[in-house]
Amino acid sequence: MATQLFWDRMAPKYARKPVDDPDAYEEKLALVASMLKPSDRVLEIGCGTGTTALRLAPKVTQYTATDGSRGMIGIANAKLGPGAPANVTFHQADAADQIAGAPFDAVCAFSLLHLVEDVPGVVANVYSQLRPGGLFLSKTVCTKAAAWPIRALIPALTTLRIAPRVTPLSEADLLRFIEDAGFTVERAMHLGKKRMSPIIVARKPA
Ligand SMILES: C[S@@+](CC[C@H](N)C(=O)[O-])C[C@H]1O[C@@H](n2cnc3c(N)ncnc32)[C@H](O)[C@@H]1O
Repeated sequence: MATQLFWDRMAPKYARKPVDDPDAYEEKLALVASMLKPSDRVLEIGCGTGTTALRLAPKVTQYTATDGSRGMIGIANAKLGPGAPANVTFHQADAADQIAGAPFDAVCAFSLLHLVEDVPGVVANVYSQLRPGGLFLSKTVCTKAAAWPIRALIPALTTLRIAPRVTPLSEADLLRFIEDAGFTVERAMHLGKKRMSPIIVARKPA
């Protein structure tokens, strides 16, 4: 609940904030789009204000995007006017919830997993909502890779409600959680200037 309130408060500012590293963002979109098929039904969890959903939806048959924050989903829904892809829907839901429409062909989670308290639980929930052979595409901030002053600062910023609560993760932690859930990791890579947010492509065995 505290997390949801944090993101509700942040939503208008988040919507105005330019993308950190536009080249890396475009590269990520191109990579994800190259892995999706036109026939795919996709679930995105932690979709924020829907920017990525609106870019990826034209590549697939159906795109269901969810976020725990009512504020984020309100802004996302306001973007669904004329000219928006007709195959995208936004819903308020926690990453631990089961979403109507499962099983999906692909589940995306961008800049989300480090924000949930039970990372293995959310990864297992993703697994359960994918069809056999389905893809899990994630990008996650791994703060264990940060310099110690930054790591030391995060809890203080969270207490001051300047930053959200963060689960400290390393890339190895994340890979283990994903593999322990039953996925086969196909790719793990870094895009852009920052080396702290691996993109992991994992597949549920067919
Ligand atoms: C850093 S933003 C990323 C938004 C978007 N995926 C992007 O890449 O721009 C993190 C988002 O995760 C959402 N979030 C945090 N914890 C969540 C949870 N447990 N369940 C669902 N959404 C959550 C927040 O509301 C916020 O919109």
